[in-house]
Amino acid sequence: MRKKVTVIGAGNVGATLAHRIVDKQLADVVVIDILEGVPQGKGLDLLQAGPIEGYDVKIKGTNDYQDTANSDLVVMTAGFPRKPGMSRDDLLKANFEVVKSAVEQAAKSSPDAILIVVTNPLDAMVQTAYRVSGFPKNRVIGMAGILDSARYRTFIAEALNVSVQDVHGLVLGGHGDTMVPVPSYTTVAGVPISQLMPKEQLDKIIDRTRKGGGEIVALLKTGSAYYAPSAAVVQMIDAIFNDRKKILPCAAYLEGEYGIKGLFVGVPVKLGAKGIEQIVEIKLTPEEQAALAKSAAAVKELVEIIAV
Ligand code: APR
Repeated sequence: MRKKVTVIGAGNVGATLAHRIVDKQLADVVVIDILEGVPQGKGLDLLQAGPIEGYDVKIKGTNDYQDTANSDLVVMTAGFPRKPGMSRDDLLKANFEVVKSAVEQAAKSSPDAILIVVTNPLDAMVQTAYRVSGFPKNRVIGMAGILDSARYRTFIAEALNVSVQDVHGLVLGGHGDTMVPVPSYTTVAGVPISQLMPKEQLDKIIDRTRKGGGEIVALLKTGSAYYAPSAAVVQMIDAIFNDRKKILPCAAYLEGEYGIKGLFVGVPVKLGAKGIEQIVEIKLTPEEQAALAKSAAAVKELVEIIAV
Protein backbone atom coordinates (compact mmCIF):
# COMPACT_ATOMS: atom_id res chain seq x y z
CA MET A 1 0.00 0.00 0.00
CA ARG A 2 1.11 3.51 -0.74
CA LYS A 3 2.58 5.50 2.16
CA LYS A 4 0.88 8.58 3.55
CA VAL A 5 2.71 11.73 4.61
CA THR A 6 1.19 14.68 6.46
CA VAL A 7 2.91 18.03 6.02
CA ILE A 8 1.92 20.51 8.73
CA GLY A 9 2.25 24.03 7.34
CA ALA A 10 1.42 25.05 3.77
CA GLY A 11 3.98 27.86 3.67
CA ASN A 12 7.23 27.97 1.74
CA VAL A 13 8.84 24.92 3.33
CA GLY A 14 5.62 22.87 3.54
CA ALA A 15 4.40 23.54 0.01
CA THR A 16 7.84 22.99 -1.55
CA LEU A 17 8.19 19.77 0.41
CA ALA A 18 4.78 18.52 -0.76
CA HIS A 19 5.85 19.33 -4.32
CA ARG A 20 9.08 17.34 -3.98
CA ILE A 21 7.32 14.34 -2.38
CA VAL A 22 4.71 14.01 -5.11
CA ASP A 23 7.26 14.62 -7.86
CA LYS A 24 9.19 11.60 -6.58
CA GLN A 25 5.93 9.68 -5.92
CA LEU A 26 7.18 8.86 -2.43
CA ALA A 27 3.70 8.96 -0.86
CA ASP A 28 0.18 10.36 -0.85
CA VAL A 29 0.34 13.79 0.78
CA VAL A 30 -1.98 15.71 3.10
CA VAL A 31 -1.04 19.35 3.69
CA ILE A 32 -2.61 20.99 6.73
CA ASP A 33 -2.52 24.64 7.83
CA ILE A 34 -4.56 26.97 10.01
CA LEU A 35 -5.13 29.30 7.06
CA GLU A 36 -8.42 28.46 5.39
CA GLY A 37 -8.16 27.88 1.66
CA VAL A 38 -4.38 28.04 1.32
CA PRO A 39 -3.62 24.33 1.84
CA GLN A 40 -6.71 23.41 -0.20
CA GLY A 41 -5.66 25.70 -3.06
CA LYS A 42 -2.03 24.59 -3.11
CA GLY A 43 -3.11 20.93 -2.82
CA LEU A 44 -5.47 21.25 -5.77
CA ASP A 45 -2.85 23.04 -7.85
CA LEU A 46 -0.31 20.28 -7.13
CA LEU A 47 -2.87 17.61 -7.97
CA GLN A 48 -3.54 19.26 -11.30
CA ALA A 49 0.17 19.16 -12.17
CA GLY A 50 -0.05 15.33 -11.97
CA PRO A 51 -1.34 14.73 -15.52
CA ILE A 52 1.53 16.81 -16.91
CA GLU A 53 4.30 15.55 -14.62
CA GLY A 54 3.03 11.99 -14.73
CA TYR A 55 2.44 11.36 -11.03
CA ASP A 56 -0.77 9.80 -9.75
CA VAL A 57 -0.40 10.05 -5.98
CA LYS A 58 -3.18 11.68 -3.96
CA ILE A 59 -2.78 15.22 -2.62
CA LYS A 60 -5.17 16.94 -0.25
CA GLY A 61 -5.09 20.31 1.44
CA THR A 62 -7.07 20.66 4.66
CA ASN A 63 -7.65 22.41 8.00
CA ASP A 64 -8.92 19.23 9.66
CA TYR A 65 -6.66 16.71 11.44
CA GLN A 66 -9.15 13.93 10.64
CA ASP A 67 -7.81 14.01 7.08
CA THR A 68 -4.31 13.30 8.39
CA ALA A 69 -5.36 10.06 10.16
CA ASN A 70 -3.01 7.09 10.03
CA SER A 71 -0.14 8.85 8.32
CA ASP A 72 3.11 6.89 8.17
CA LEU A 73 5.11 10.06 8.56
CA VAL A 74 4.35 13.62 9.71
CA VAL A 75 6.57 16.60 8.92
CA MET A 76 6.19 19.65 11.14
CA THR A 77 7.00 22.82 9.18
CA ALA A 78 4.41 25.22 10.63
CA GLY A 79 5.57 28.23 12.56
CA PHE A 80 6.33 31.89 12.50
CA PRO A 81 9.43 33.39 10.98
CA ARG A 82 11.34 35.92 13.07
CA LYS A 83 9.93 39.42 12.62
CA PRO A 84 11.65 42.75 13.27
CA GLY A 85 11.74 43.56 16.97
CA MET A 86 11.20 39.93 17.94
CA SER A 87 13.81 38.39 20.19
CA ARG A 88 14.99 34.81 19.81
CA ASP A 89 13.06 34.01 22.98
CA ASP A 90 9.85 35.58 21.61
CA LEU A 91 10.13 33.38 18.52
CA LEU A 92 10.85 30.40 20.73
CA LYS A 93 7.69 30.94 22.76
CA ALA A 94 5.48 31.66 19.73
CA ASN A 95 6.62 28.57 17.85
CA PHE A 96 6.48 26.46 21.01
CA GLU A 97 2.71 27.06 21.11
CA VAL A 98 2.38 26.20 17.39
CA VAL A 99 4.40 22.99 17.69
CA LYS A 100 2.61 21.98 20.87
CA SER A 101 -0.90 22.29 19.47
CA ALA A 102 -0.13 20.90 16.00
CA VAL A 103 1.93 17.92 17.18
CA GLU A 104 -0.65 17.07 19.86
CA GLN A 105 -3.36 16.76 17.21
CA ALA A 106 -1.17 15.08 14.60
CA ALA A 107 0.12 12.49 17.08
CA LYS A 108 -3.41 11.65 18.18
CA SER A 109 -4.49 11.12 14.56
CA SER A 110 -1.38 9.15 13.56
CA PRO A 111 -0.09 7.36 16.67
CA ASP A 112 2.35 5.15 14.76
CA ALA A 113 3.88 7.86 12.58
CA ILE A 114 7.50 8.93 12.37
CA LEU A 115 7.76 12.63 13.14
CA ILE A 116 10.25 14.94 11.41
CA VAL A 117 10.52 18.48 12.76
CA VAL A 118 11.70 21.46 10.69
CA THR A 119 10.26 24.42 12.65
CA ASN A 120 12.85 26.70 14.24
CA PRO A 121 14.50 27.03 16.65
CA LEU A 122 14.93 23.44 15.57
CA ASP A 123 16.58 21.78 18.54
CA ALA A 124 14.07 23.15 21.04
CA MET A 125 11.11 22.47 18.73
CA VAL A 126 12.04 18.83 18.17
CA GLN A 127 12.40 18.42 21.95
CA THR A 128 8.90 19.92 22.31
CA ALA A 129 7.52 17.53 19.69
CA TYR A 130 9.12 14.58 21.48
CA ARG A 131 7.54 15.50 24.82
CA VAL A 132 4.12 16.39 23.42
CA SER A 133 3.80 13.36 21.11
CA GLY A 134 4.98 10.82 23.68
CA PHE A 135 6.48 8.92 20.73
CA PRO A 136 9.58 6.77 21.29
CA LYS A 137 12.86 8.52 20.55
CA ASN A 138 13.53 6.59 17.34
CA ARG A 139 10.37 8.13 15.82
CA VAL A 140 11.13 11.80 16.50
CA ILE A 141 13.82 13.35 14.31
CA GLY A 142 14.98 16.92 13.72
CA MET A 143 16.03 18.10 10.27
CA ALA A 144 19.08 20.35 10.41
CA GLY A 145 22.35 18.51 9.91
CA ILE A 146 21.64 17.45 6.33
CA LEU A 147 20.87 21.07 5.42
CA ASP A 148 23.87 22.52 7.24
CA SER A 149 26.13 19.83 5.73
CA ALA A 150 24.72 20.57 2.26
CA ARG A 151 25.63 24.24 2.67
CA TYR A 152 29.13 23.28 3.88
CA ARG A 153 29.59 20.89 0.94
CA THR A 154 28.33 23.47 -1.55
CA PHE A 155 30.83 26.10 -0.39
CA ILE A 156 33.72 23.58 -0.49
CA ALA A 157 32.79 22.37 -3.98
CA GLU A 158 32.58 25.97 -5.19
CA ALA A 159 35.96 26.90 -3.69
CA LEU A 160 37.74 23.87 -5.18
CA ASN A 161 35.77 23.87 -8.44
CA VAL A 162 34.87 20.18 -8.04
CA SER A 163 31.59 18.27 -8.22
CA VAL A 164 29.60 18.68 -5.04
CA GLN A 165 28.87 14.95 -5.31
CA ASP A 166 32.51 14.27 -4.44
CA VAL A 167 32.44 16.42 -1.32
CA HIS A 168 31.57 14.69 1.93
CA GLY A 169 31.31 16.54 5.16
CA LEU A 170 29.39 16.49 8.41
CA VAL A 171 27.91 19.29 10.43
CA LEU A 172 26.92 18.29 13.95
CA GLY A 173 25.52 20.04 17.01
CA GLY A 174 22.66 22.51 17.28
CA HIS A 175 21.09 24.27 14.31
CA GLY A 176 22.43 27.70 15.19
CA ASP A 177 25.55 29.80 15.51
CA THR A 178 27.27 27.07 17.54
CA MET A 179 26.86 24.30 14.94
CA VAL A 180 29.93 22.12 14.47
CA PRO A 181 31.29 21.46 10.97
CA VAL A 182 33.75 18.58 11.35
CA PRO A 183 36.94 19.06 9.30
CA SER A 184 38.39 15.69 10.39
CA TYR A 185 35.63 13.92 8.42
CA THR A 186 35.57 16.27 5.45
CA THR A 187 36.86 14.69 2.26
CA VAL A 188 36.80 15.26 -1.48
CA ALA A 189 36.68 11.96 -3.40
CA GLY A 190 38.18 10.35 -0.30
CA VAL A 191 41.02 12.89 0.06
CA PRO A 192 41.12 14.70 3.43
CA ILE A 193 40.25 18.39 3.08
CA SER A 194 43.46 19.35 4.92
CA GLN A 195 45.41 18.22 1.82
CA LEU A 196 43.32 20.35 -0.53
CA MET A 197 42.76 23.66 1.19
CA PRO A 198 44.65 25.86 3.67
CA LYS A 199 43.13 25.99 7.15
CA GLU A 200 42.33 29.71 6.85
CA GLN A 201 40.20 29.08 3.76
CA LEU A 202 38.32 26.23 5.42
CA ASP A 203 37.76 28.39 8.52
CA LYS A 204 36.08 31.00 6.31
CA ILE A 205 33.83 28.30 4.82
CA ILE A 206 32.97 27.03 8.30
CA ASP A 207 32.04 30.56 9.34
CA ARG A 208 29.86 31.04 6.24
CA THR A 209 28.20 27.66 6.90
CA ARG A 210 27.33 28.71 10.46
CA LYS A 211 25.68 31.84 9.09
CA GLY A 212 24.21 30.05 6.04
CA GLY A 213 20.57 30.43 7.05
CA GLY A 214 21.04 34.10 7.98
CA GLU A 215 22.70 34.82 4.63
CA ILE A 216 19.54 33.70 2.85
CA VAL A 217 17.21 35.57 5.26
CA ALA A 218 19.20 38.75 4.59
CA LEU A 219 18.79 38.26 0.84
CA LEU A 220 15.13 37.25 0.82
CA LYS A 221 14.12 39.86 3.42
CA THR A 222 10.63 38.37 3.78
CA GLY A 223 11.35 34.82 4.86
CA SER A 224 13.88 32.04 5.20
CA ALA A 225 15.25 29.22 3.03
CA TYR A 226 12.98 26.50 1.70
CA TYR A 227 14.46 24.77 -1.35
CA ALA A 228 17.40 23.17 0.46
CA PRO A 229 15.43 22.52 3.69
CA SER A 230 12.68 20.67 1.80
CA ALA A 231 15.28 18.69 -0.19
CA ALA A 232 16.86 17.61 3.11
CA VAL A 233 13.52 16.35 4.43
CA VAL A 234 12.94 14.38 1.24
CA GLN A 235 16.29 12.65 1.67
CA MET A 236 15.19 11.61 5.17
CA ILE A 237 11.78 10.37 3.95
CA ASP A 238 13.41 8.41 1.13
CA ALA A 239 15.86 6.78 3.57
CA ILE A 240 12.99 5.83 5.91
CA PHE A 241 10.43 4.59 3.38
CA ASN A 242 13.02 2.62 1.42
CA ASP A 243 14.73 1.35 4.59
CA ARG A 244 18.06 2.51 3.19
CA LYS A 245 19.99 2.51 6.50
CA LYS A 246 21.63 5.75 5.39
CA ILE A 247 24.03 7.53 7.74
CA LEU A 248 22.92 11.15 7.88
CA PRO A 249 23.37 13.95 10.41
CA CYS A 250 20.04 14.58 12.17
CA ALA A 251 18.90 15.97 15.50
CA ALA A 252 18.41 12.91 17.73
CA TYR A 253 17.53 12.43 21.38
CA LEU A 254 20.77 11.58 23.16
CA GLU A 255 21.00 9.60 26.35
CA GLY A 256 24.71 9.72 27.06
CA GLU A 257 26.06 9.42 23.52
CA TYR A 258 28.78 12.02 22.90
CA GLY A 259 28.58 12.80 26.63
CA ILE A 260 25.16 14.49 26.13
CA LYS A 261 22.08 13.45 28.06
CA GLY A 262 18.37 14.24 27.69
CA LEU A 263 18.72 16.60 24.72
CA PHE A 264 18.19 16.62 20.97
CA VAL A 265 21.48 17.46 19.25
CA GLY A 266 22.70 16.89 15.70
CA VAL A 267 24.74 13.69 15.35
CA PRO A 268 25.20 11.05 12.64
CA VAL A 269 22.35 8.53 12.75
CA LYS A 270 21.31 5.49 10.75
CA LEU A 271 17.93 6.18 9.10
CA GLY A 272 15.78 3.23 8.09
CA ALA A 273 12.22 1.94 8.27
CA LYS A 274 12.08 2.34 12.04
CA GLY A 275 13.30 5.94 11.91
CA ILE A 276 16.52 6.44 13.86
CA GLU A 277 17.88 2.90 14.05
CA GLN A 278 21.26 3.79 15.53
CA ILE A 279 23.17 6.77 16.81
CA VAL A 280 26.56 6.50 15.20
CA GLU A 281 29.32 7.53 17.58
CA ILE A 282 32.38 8.75 15.73
CA LYS A 283 35.69 9.75 17.22
CA LEU A 284 36.11 13.53 17.25
CA THR A 285 39.22 15.60 17.82
CA PRO A 286 39.36 17.28 21.26
CA GLU A 287 38.49 20.64 19.62
CA GLU A 288 35.50 19.16 17.79
CA GLN A 289 34.31 17.40 20.96
CA ALA A 290 34.59 20.67 22.91
CA ALA A 291 32.67 22.54 20.19
CA LEU A 292 29.93 19.90 20.31
CA ALA A 293 29.66 20.21 24.10
CA LYS A 294 29.42 24.00 23.75
CA SER A 295 26.70 23.64 21.11
CA ALA A 296 24.76 21.22 23.34
CA ALA A 297 24.98 23.75 26.18
CA ALA A 298 23.43 26.40 23.89
CA VAL A 299 20.60 24.00 23.00
CA LYS A 300 20.04 23.28 26.69
CA GLU A 301 19.65 26.99 27.42
CA LEU A 302 16.84 27.28 24.87
CA VAL A 303 15.13 24.13 26.07
CA GLU A 304 15.22 25.39 29.65
CA ILE A 305 13.36 28.58 28.65
CA ILE A 306 10.37 26.56 27.50
CA ALA A 307 10.88 23.89 30.15
CA VAL A 308 10.20 20.79 28.04
N1 APR B 1 -1.02 24.96 12.55
C1 APR B 1 -0.80 24.80 11.22
N2 APR B 1 -0.16 25.70 10.46
C2 APR B 1 0.28 26.81 11.06
C3 APR B 1 0.09 27.05 12.45
C4 APR B 1 -0.59 26.06 13.20
N3 APR B 1 -0.82 26.18 14.49
N4 APR B 1 0.64 28.26 12.75
C5 APR B 1 1.17 28.75 11.61
N5 APR B 1 0.95 27.89 10.59
C6 APR B 1 1.34 28.00 9.18
C7 APR B 1 1.17 29.40 8.60
O1 APR B 1 -0.20 29.67 8.31
C8 APR B 1 2.03 29.32 7.34
O2 APR B 1 1.29 28.89 6.21
O3 APR B 1 2.72 27.74 9.00
C9 APR B 1 3.08 28.23 7.70
C10 APR B 1 4.50 28.77 7.76
O4 APR B 1 4.87 29.12 6.48
P1 APR B 1 5.95 30.27 6.15
O5 APR B 1 5.61 31.49 6.94
O6 APR B 1 6.07 30.34 4.66
O7 APR B 1 7.30 29.71 6.78
P2 APR B 1 8.32 28.66 6.11
O8 APR B 1 9.31 29.40 5.29
O9 APR B 1 7.55 27.55 5.49
O10 APR B 1 9.09 28.16 7.41
C11 APR B 1 8.43 27.36 8.37
O11 APR B 1 10.42 26.13 8.91
O12 APR B 1 12.63 26.41 8.29
C12 APR B 1 11.69 26.64 9.28
O13 APR B 1 12.44 28.69 10.35
C13 APR B 1 11.47 28.12 9.53
O14 APR B 1 10.20 27.84 11.55
C14 APR B 1 10.11 28.11 10.17
C15 APR B 1 9.40 26.94 9.47
